[in-house]
Amino acid sequence: MATPTMDKAEAAGTPEPGFADTPYITATFRIRRFNPEVSDQSEWEDFEVLIDPKERVLDALHKIKWELDGTLTFRRSCAHGVCGSDAMRINGKNRLACKTLIKDLNPDKPITIEAIKGLTVLKDLVVDMDPFFQAYRDVMPFLITKGNEPTRERLQSAEDRERFDDTTKCILCAACTSSCPVFWNDGQYFGPAAIVNAHRFIFDSRDEGGEQRLEILNDKDGVWRCRTTFNCTDACPRGIEVTKAIQEVKRALITRRF
Ligand code: SF4
Ligand code: FES
Repeated sequence: MATPTMDKAEAAGTPEPGFADTPYITATFRIRRFNPEVSDQSEWEDFEVLIDPKERVLDALHKIKWELDGTLTFRRSCAHGVCGSDAMRINGKNRLACKTLIKDLNPDKPITIEAIKGLTVLKDLVVDMDPFFQAYRDVMPFLITKGNEPTRERLQSAEDRERFDDTTKCILCAACTSSCPVFWNDGQYFGPAAIVNAHRFIFDSRDEGGEQRLEILNDKDGVWRCRTTFNCTDACPRGIEVTKAIQEVKRALITRRF
């Protein structure tokens, strides 16, 4: 696919008053643009932004959108690493734009930004998340219990709570699933994020739907597709040990102990 480069000569970003000593730099952001209403091909476009290197990639994207090109399309909401909406491929690696500092990206060279892989690009940095969330829904990410409702809350020991603590941290950003080569090659694979969220309930001592979830993940598109490449663990902005969680689900399937 041809990916011609276009240059924008003007730089966006004006230093704030009172910050004269801030070491502003002009960084080049090379963004893969795609607009299906204009072309069925994506193309790289360069934007030069005057920016404090201690700012984040999300700040640069805002400057570009607000000062250079209002058509640039990307998702973001919380801007603080909580909502998971701004996962993108920055310098070839999946990261959250709101958690990635420009100074950590070698800004002497153009910083590349493109949509995450394995999901259909709708426009610029926005992908169709429906298959991702469908896999999440398929593993039933909610507490399943039998019998009558207890009159008090369902108690759990600190040790039992610790068992699945890591996988409660998921913010559903899709950085893991969209860094997985198995998912790139065949989007039918449930993907790491869905398995992480199944793990969160399978290993919850209060839950009684573990067997059902294990059977769902025993599918040909389930956990056995994982090739243990660790891309998912490397990509996770929450530091979740994703590959370990997948291994634990595999082991639970073999031993039926969880
Ligand atoms: S496991 Fe990590 S990378 Fe994957 S969706 Fe959850 S927070 Fe994002
Ligand atoms: S904008 Fe919410 S996680 Fe980055």
